[in-house]
Amino acid sequence: MKYVLPALAAIVTATAVFAHNGVTDPVVLARMEAMKRIGGNVKVIGDMAKGEAAFDADAVQTALNAIQAEAAEIPAYFEQQVLVEGSEALPAIWQNWDDFVAKAGDLEVAAGSLSVSSADDLGAALQQVGGACAGCHKTYRE
Ligand code: HEC
Repeated sequence: MKYVLPALAAIVTATAVFAHNGVTDPVVLARMEAMKRIGGNVKVIGDMAKGEAAFDADAVQTALNAIQAEAAEIPAYFEQQVLVEGSEALPAIWQNWDDFVAKAGDLEVAAGSLSVSSADDLGAALQQVGGACAGCHKTYRE
């Protein structure tokens, strides 16, 4: 679990500081906001895994449900090819659209298939979810 957490922390906090890199395009902002919401839900689980929040199975399930639902929306947020300065989206998204959609599906399936009944399950859950984030980011995000 330990090796997963730094990567997740980076995913979740990377952009908070930069306020979306000064982007003003509404299409790009909407997809960034969607990603931020996903990150916020991962953080709910991550905080429990790190012991910074008490284990709460219902809250974990709510976060997983939200990630699952948000993952299903990812293709819609990226449907329009908009590339502006400050965006970290790579043109490869639209060159390999079916694969991009499949990677959103991987996250949807990962979040939807997990069941977390004790704090001991959190590490594995984060690994599954975080793996699906990374699976897309490493190819399609700068
Ligand atoms: C199917 C692909 C895909 C998946 C799956 C995915 N992301 Fe992203 N994510 C992107 C892309 C592309 C960007 C860059 C968007 C841009 O800058 O225009 C991004 C950007 C982000 C950002 C930065 C948003 C901002 O404000 O600039 C965060 C945070 C983020 N993702 C978190 C996550 C987390 C956490 C997960 C997994 C639970 C995840 N993402 C899963 C494709 C994905």
